[in-house]
Amino acid sequence: MTSGLSRRLTEYGDAGFARFLRQAFLKARGLTDDALERPIVGICSTASDFNPCHASAPQLIAAVERGVMLAGGLPFTFPTISLHESFAYPTSMFLRNLMAMDTEEMLRALPLDSVVLIGGCDKTVPAQIMGAISADIPALMAVVGPMLAGSDEGERLGACTDCRRLWSAHRAGEIDDAKLARAQGRLMPTHGTCMVMGTASTMAALAETLGFMLPGGTTIPAVHSERLRFAEETGARAVAIAGGGGPLPSALVTPAAVRNAMVLIQALGGSTNAVIHLAAMAGRAGIAFDAGEFDRIGRETPVIVDLKPIGRGYMEDLHRAGGLPAVMRRLGDRLDLDVITADGRRLGEVLESWPDWVDDAVVRTVDDPVVPGEALAVLRGSLAPGGAILKRAAASDRLLRHEGPALVFDGLDDLARRIDDPDLPVTAEHVLILRGAGPVGGPGMPEAGAVPIPKKLAQAGVKDMVRISDARMSGTAYGTVILHISPEAAIGGPLALVRDGDVVRLDVEARRIDLLVGEDELASRRENWVAPERPGRGYARLYADHVTQAELGCDFDFLRPPAGGVT
Ligand code: FES
Repeated sequence: MTSGLSRRLTEYGDAGFARFLRQAFLKARGLTDDALERPIVGICSTASDFNPCHASAPQLIAAVERGVMLAGGLPFTFPTISLHESFAYPTSMFLRNLMAMDTEEMLRALPLDSVVLIGGCDKTVPAQIMGAISADIPALMAVVGPMLAGSDEGERLGACTDCRRLWSAHRAGEIDDAKLARAQGRLMPTHGTCMVMGTASTMAALAETLGFMLPGGTTIPAVHSERLRFAEETGARAVAIAGGGGPLPSALVTPAAVRNAMVLIQALGGSTNAVIHLAAMAGRAGIAFDAGEFDRIGRETPVIVDLKPIGRGYMEDLHRAGGLPAVMRRLGDRLDLDVITADGRRLGEVLESWPDWVDDAVVRTVDDPVVPGEALAVLRGSLAPGGAILKRAAASDRLLRHEGPALVFDGLDDLARRIDDPDLPVTAEHVLILRGAGPVGGPGMPEAGAVPIPKKLAQAGVKDMVRISDARMSGTAYGTVILHISPEAAIGGPLALVRDGDVVRLDVEARRIDLLVGEDELASRRENWVAPERPGRGYARLYADHVTQAELGCDFDFLRPPAGGVT
């Protein structure tokens, strides 16, 4: 079997010449014959000036390189697309599949014995893991780690739950411009990823749970020296798994590992986005994501981690409290302890050897959960035949059973134009509907599902309303917000047929979301429905033609393996 620089030789029709030429170019870089015989560990860099969350990536990469060389390997760093939530128009989700393709194709093209993926910001982690599963070479993840929390006037602050809370308070006239401006400079006091249990934190936890990241790697703050030591250890481990010394991604992502990931999302009070990403990652391994099982797991799994947006703390608190393995140990036999972790041991062995001390205030016991009820609930009904999701634990109890008239917004422009109109015919009992913001319609499901409370109601003290959309919301957001309605409006789902004043019924206990309009009336509306125009060219056209709905992870249909396995 070929290894190192003899892998994936460029096609010249002469393998010997291809290897000779490759070595010549590397000798021009100053590498000796001894170096060229070593196992090759790729380091997939997502450092970018447009990704402030990854500002520490260069130091992390240097530490991984050190680990690789100390273990006798030769590191090669290469770039791919990098995605940051605030620097990706129209949305980072629109580009996640492009990044997954970029990652996969580089892993297929380069002579790598193993790879370390440097990710962190929300979509980078699923994109890299999706690519690694499809390329199926030994892969480890080293996330950049979470920011430390900030503070203002004695109050702890963090991105982005408090960004949203302060912005809402400013909209409602509760805080002035000066307070908002000061908080803006204190919400993110260090680099790293958002330090609440948002999408980045949840996805890091899933990377660790699925066996792509060394135990404990999720919670180490970006600016701690421990993060660099973790990176060095990751580099050394990457040499150990190079060339068949460890399981391939396709062997890591098993039904048992995916089920463990579902348990973790619920127990962490994780991001709704993570459900889409887990469906996509599982799909790449040929595993169908079972939304019904995810919902059942939620009913049996309490939220035991007291972090925002559901609870009070930040990732540095979870790190001090014992980290992700401490959470896993509290979950006990809710998890399959026989799955393989990134350090090669069974999960049960890792948890047995993990330090005993746990801070019960942050990592609660299953008998003393952070909130009553499950974190996330899967809904179905006449408005969402393909499913929808609600962050139950971040919703208002009084709205979990609600019937009210619809007020429909057709896309984000319509929403922006009318939501603060003082003459908007809206009451607190209305159900706000945003459509045309799904995978195709958005495009890329903008995180706009947490539709702002109309200004006139916010100023009257209304804090929450039922909001329904085919969009997503940030993992750091909260409210009675039903997301990922499938099929989406842009492909003719029932959401496209709703009109102002139609009655919508939400019953979370029954897991139902229904439009109370007769079938005859809906049939006549369906006949008159006109599909929106699709983009004419480029990636936007590819995306519109091939993106799947949320329950399939919004992956491209042609990137999912045919039934029965990984291609
Ligand atoms: Fe990068 Fe939140 S914007 S993790």
